[in-house]
Amino acid sequence: MSASQGADATPRVSRRCESLGTENAFVVLAEVNALVREGRDIVSFCIGQPDFPTPRNIQEAAIAAIRGGKHGYTPSAGIDELREAVARDLGQRRGLDIRPEDVVVGAGAKPFIAYTIASVTDYGAGDEVIYPVPGFPIYESQIIANGAVPVPIFLRESRDFAFDPAELEAKITDKTRLLILNTPQNPTGGILGAADLDAIAEILAQHPQIWVYADEIYSRLVYTGAFDTLARRPGMQKRTIIADGASKTWAMTGWRVGYVANRALAPAFTRWITNTESCASQISQWAAVEAINGPQDSVVEMQARFAERRELIVRLLNAVPGVSCRSPGGAFYAWPNVTEACRLVGAADSEVLRKRLLHEAGIAVLADIHFGRRVPGDGQHIRLSYAASNHAIEEGVARLEAFVRRNMG
Ligand SMILES: Cc1ncc(COP(=O)(O)O)c(C=O)c1O
Repeated sequence: MSASQGADATPRVSRRCESLGTENAFVVLAEVNALVREGRDIVSFCIGQPDFPTPRNIQEAAIAAIRGGKHGYTPSAGIDELREAVARDLGQRRGLDIRPEDVVVGAGAKPFIAYTIASVTDYGAGDEVIYPVPGFPIYESQIIANGAVPVPIFLRESRDFAFDPAELEAKITDKTRLLILNTPQNPTGGILGAADLDAIAEILAQHPQIWVYADEIYSRLVYTGAFDTLARRPGMQKRTIIADGASKTWAMTGWRVGYVANRALAPAFTRWITNTESCASQISQWAAVEAINGPQDSVVEMQARFAERRELIVRLLNAVPGVSCRSPGGAFYAWPNVTEACRLVGAADSEVLRKRLLHEAGIAVLADIHFGRRVPGDGQHIRLSYAASNHAIEEGVARLEAFVRRNMG
């Protein structure tokens, strides 16, 4: 290599960095934004965030924090007021005894996925992590980035997108260190029912070396029955990292406040935060105190709107030729099976369909492959986030239907 080439070249990046996964929602979103800038009319069902403004009382609390000089660093685990509020609220809603010292606050719930994997597995030691597929893509990405072994467990359409506990039992080995659960679930909207949670707890009781990361970020968006958690089962709370946050419940995704509760791991999480972000934004933490302690009418209102939209989108999707959609039990995602629609329009798979929908029909959705490999035998799916107005849902699904009818052979 000549001296001039050497001066121009950038040093190499690590294999870890090269293999880091991503959240394709952000990639598709950039594609959609580029089309919108070109003047294209796109109805977007891509984004997993409430389309409502953050409630007014929460906004006011943040403004008061700024004006009151509450803008400095906080302890890495979060301000006492927020840890107390979270402990009480998480505990009451789940019927658990959670102490403020068990709670750690971070810049969203997302960072705790990496902190958990890094805290309970050793790099390159063959430690296994079982995680749901389809699932939030950061699970697999962080398992690999942290040198652990990804072991997918498939969510089955025939079980309303829960996994079969018998499959869990078969996947557990002496090397299993962590099980990731997500209920209500992204991307399917599925929920883990009481019987499945009981069965999972019974299996885990035989394997005391396994931690559980319970991603409960959609815990306040359950439409059928009450929210339930593994941590309520005997012996499970001490092994379970309960993760929740402000993002989805109070329409606060950009404020970046999430939290976990686990007595044994709270000091480890605190140390990770000291090593990375130092603390969550103090302003956002005061806003989250108000979110939890203040009036909950806006939460109830948002829940009601999501429930109504769920009915609407499921009904409309099921009227589209080649599409069948189960009614999601929670979150704000519909996960219709589009195997037959792909066949009708001559699309090789759900990703080809997604691209054609974006470019030919003006609807932005995500494809199943953005959430891990396809579940063998379960066909093709797309994800529509119904955090969108009724009008957008009606217009978007009408475009989908027109597209399918126009292209049917
Ligand atoms: C399953 C799941 N977990 C975690 C998160 C991250 O939430 P937060 O905004 O608190 O980082 C999301 C956001 O989309 C999610 O869908």
